[in-house]
Amino acid sequence: MPSLNDIRSTFLDYFGRNQHQIVASSPLVPRNDPTLMFTAAGMVQFKNLFTGVEHRDYTRATTAQKCVRAGGKHNDLDNVGYTARHHTFFEMLGNFSFGDYFKEDAIPFAWDLLTKDFGIDASRLLVTVYHTDDEAVEIWKKHAGLSDDRIIRIASDDNFWSAGPTGPCGPCTEIFYDHGDHIPGGPPGSPDEDGDRFIEIWNLVFMQYEQMEDGTRRDLPNKSIDTGMGLERIGALLQGKHDNYDTDLFRALIEASANATNTDPDGPGNVHHRVIADHLRSTSFLMADGVLPSNEGRGYVLRRIMRRAMRHAHLLGAKDPVMHRLVPALVTQMGQPYPELGRAQSMIQETLLSEETRFRQTLERGLRLLDDELGNLPEDASLPGAAAFKLYDTFGFPLDLTQDALREKGRGVDVAGFDAAMAEQKAKARAAWSGSGETADASIWFDLAEKHGVTEFLGYETEQAEGQILALVQDQCVVDSAAAGQTVQIIVNQTPFYAESGGQVGDTGTLKTADGTARITDTRKSADVFIHIAEVTEGTLRKGAGATLTVDHDRRALIRANHSATHLLNEALREVLGDHVAQRGSLNAPDRLRFDFSHTKGLTLEELAQVETRVNAFIRQNDAVSTRIMTPDDARALGAQALFGEKYGDEVRVVSMGRADTGKGTSGDTWSVELCGGTHVSRTGDIGLFVTLGDSASSAGVRRIEALTGAAALEYLMAQDRRLAETALALKSSPGDVPDRLRALLDERKSLQNEVAQLRRDLAMAGGAGQAEQPGAETINGIPFLAQSLSGVTGKDLPGLIDAHKARLGSGAVLLIADAGGKVAVAAGVTDDLTDRISAVDLVRVAVAPMGGKGGGGRPDMAQGGARDAAGAADAIEAAKTLLKG
Ligand code: ALA
Repeated sequence: MPSLNDIRSTFLDYFGRNQHQIVASSPLVPRNDPTLMFTAAGMVQFKNLFTGVEHRDYTRATTAQKCVRAGGKHNDLDNVGYTARHHTFFEMLGNFSFGDYFKEDAIPFAWDLLTKDFGIDASRLLVTVYHTDDEAVEIWKKHAGLSDDRIIRIASDDNFWSAGPTGPCGPCTEIFYDHGDHIPGGPPGSPDEDGDRFIEIWNLVFMQYEQMEDGTRRDLPNKSIDTGMGLERIGALLQGKHDNYDTDLFRALIEASANATNTDPDGPGNVHHRVIADHLRSTSFLMADGVLPSNEGRGYVLRRIMRRAMRHAHLLGAKDPVMHRLVPALVTQMGQPYPELGRAQSMIQETLLSEETRFRQTLERGLRLLDDELGNLPEDASLPGAAAFKLYDTFGFPLDLTQDALREKGRGVDVAGFDAAMAEQKAKARAAWSGSGETADASIWFDLAEKHGVTEFLGYETEQAEGQILALVQDQCVVDSAAAGQTVQIIVNQTPFYAESGGQVGDTGTLKTADGTARITDTRKSADVFIHIAEVTEGTLRKGAGATLTVDHDRRALIRANHSATHLLNEALREVLGDHVAQRGSLNAPDRLRFDFSHTKGLTLEELAQVETRVNAFIRQNDAVSTRIMTPDDARALGAQALFGEKYGDEVRVVSMGRADTGKGTSGDTWSVELCGGTHVSRTGDIGLFVTLGDSASSAGVRRIEALTGAAALEYLMAQDRRLAETALALKSSPGDVPDRLRALLDERKSLQNEVAQLRRDLAMAGGAGQAEQPGAETINGIPFLAQSLSGVTGKDLPGLIDAHKARLGSGAVLLIADAGGKVAVAAGVTDDLTDRISAVDLVRVAVAPMGGKGGGGRPDMAQGGARDAAGAADAIEAAKTLLKG
């Protein structure tokens, strides 16, 4: 009996042999379709190949595509476990032609694989075709020899397939398997077609048209093929089972669930095992593709699926968390074709454990409340919306979980009442928000959040994604379009652009639609709406348009490296300086990082070197950086430090990096554990190199370190090295000897300076530089007066010179003007016998004025002042003489 893994391989090999490129499954979160919540068909990753927008070097492809149908347009969640063929996660096997072959080959390919390679009894097969598709009928007759009664023409949409409201579409032909008349049900198109006898196994779509936004349909540039066959269905058929859950893969998961809960896999709890097996697959694969549980968007769909499974585990009587224990069985079954599952295994297990532990805290009380409520209601009455809302709001029961719980009792929920209670809560949140001090301007973002929901951030996983323009805002007003040359704020449903927060700057890049292009110069957020600040560079952007958003990769890579380095720096500082170090702010920009932290003293060179050494050691360790979602308490228990100024809800994102070599902390072996919403490198080695630019005081008790990483750090170090080499050359020394050589030179300079000062004083006493003769005094108004202008003498030398001149004169007044390198100093002295007639202070004051100075001070016998321009020295001396003349 072939296993599901064998069947997958047979399918891919078959089309590989027929010149099809075997292409890996694309992720469950579509990168190229803003209208889809999850990838729900094999053709999603090829959408642009069908429409001719994109070309690859192959025109035939085959895939086994991971699909999730839960939440969004395609939603099978409610039926899972209760039917034979519903799944939230399944694999779609497909073959594709992009303008290569069409119907005449697609039908034979399918028929031959089924009847020859898979060996299915041809007499059990029948097909449907679109009612007008005579071509397909003819091919079926000719190639498969099907008689008319086994080719059923269907006029409805059942045989016209489209990817969504817009996009590639076309008529299709579906292949059915007749399980035999012991099973009730009629052929397709008959009144009892919904029975289980005739099961559709393969859908071949003849992609021919593109459905446009305005409702029209245009021909695709080339006729193409898109087919889809659920692996689980064909697997059941080939394994002789009627129920997908009886296939080998599901059986292994159901048995794992039975083992973990100590129950009978086929006992009364069978439906619970089926739900658990299905939900284990969707939740694990979603997490492996980067979706993490949250209260919004895709993360909430994931959480809803998880919680449903957890309730079913609880119904099986499990006292402890179960789901995480089943992951190894899933990895055994599916890890080989999907290696991402193994890579994410520990993260998946941890997340499931933490989610289940938390949910169990309220699950039982919630279920009791549910029973009490039901007990108070008349038989068959629906659960009131208010009660369902309480279960949601207080006990974390998603609405569909409550509905699932009621389904077993044949009861429903008043959904309108639930919606009303939800609307009321939103109105309250709005009122609280208006009072929270946000500016009135910001209310536009709150309105948009209410109307469209918050923006879904895809940027942890990808730097390019498609989004839909939900709103364009100019000058606080919503507009319908923006044309080239205009600045506009753009809101999309999902974006890879990081909005500035937690110290990390917003992303920049481009946004392109069919009609216009914009440069995104910054991204901010308000009320969890991401605001892309854009300049329209070409054409026109319109509300409602699909857009490709591309983050500036190089800049983002630099920001990521700086942000991760900040985490390592934080931990290194705590290690080197002590646990009092706490983050007080940070900046993670493309060109540098800045980290402010509580510490009172400047760092010594030794401390800085230790910090750099530690950070670089963890960079070289090149360990994977991991992110997890958990409660703030669990995060703190792991040793996470909360970042300054951040508000935390009931769950946080925890970023860990580095393997500790010190045995420190309770965080297992993780060195740095921080609560953080930012984007990070995948391995610490991606940071490359780390160097600080020194530390400085930021504010009282807060130090600031600026640092560089990667190429910028290397460039900086190389420039420093070059400067050192130049210095060594200038000093005629070697780089290693520069410090000693420089110290010796500075000592020598100091003693030379002292010597020069002494020489200047001696020289001045002898008449000053350039003055050949000993100056003589003239007598003015009976007062001997000596005035002299000295170059090369500093103000510091003047008092000594004044004293010397006074002593030489015995009685008299002295005025000295010193000019050293543009700094002009003036000093005056009056011998004690004359201070009652003339004051040195007055002499200085009149002397500085012609030289652009002002004031001056001292005592009557000795005063000093400063001036700017020695060119006025002669006038200064004249002014002093005039003063002496009285
Ligand atoms: N895209 C087609 C489907 O999903 C094959 O059924």
